[in-house]
Amino acid sequence: MQTAVYPGSFDPCTNGHIDVIRRASKMFDKVVVAVLVNEKKNPLFSFEERVNMLKTATQDIPNIEICSFSGLLADFMKENGYGVIVKGLRAVSDYEYEFQMALTNRALYDKVETVFMPCSAEFMFLSSSIVKEIAKYNGELSGLVPETLIPLIKGRFGY
Ligand code: PNS
Repeated sequence: MQTAVYPGSFDPCTNGHIDVIRRASKMFDKVVVAVLVNEKKNPLFSFEERVNMLKTATQDIPNIEICSFSGLLADFMKENGYGVIVKGLRAVSDYEYEFQMALTNRALYDKVETVFMPCSAEFMFLSSSIVKEIAKYNGELSGLVPETLIPLIKGRFGY
């Protein structure tokens, strides 16, 4: 059984994330969505909220599991016996950082491979930061994040 791990902050998850999860779920027997807990990024949403948002948005995908990790991703992979990391790439500019991360993770745990998945064209520009910026000014989030999450995201900015 081949399991892939899709790690991220998901603060909040976007339709770009869900697209990668959905496509990866067709390529692997199981996709473990690993939400980073102890990040320095001062997330807008708590870890529990980020997990719940992902659960709500992926209810129809049978072969996924949402879980958390803290510390190094390579340690999480090793401790759980996982061998494949999936990362979405939006543009060439993502590549440099992701390439560095892929090599770092393999240097830390030599049994781990990273698989890059190009994002779908309509999500090239999309990121959690862009979503937060739009939400901050009460802009239109339809099509950018799962519809059911819009009230929670807008609510965080008082709308
Ligand atoms: O959604 P993000 O914020 O782009 O996700 C980044 C993430 C969580 C995948 C990355 O920051 C990560 O793997 N963090 C865990 C710490 C780690 O292992 N860093 C890389 C080696 S120094």
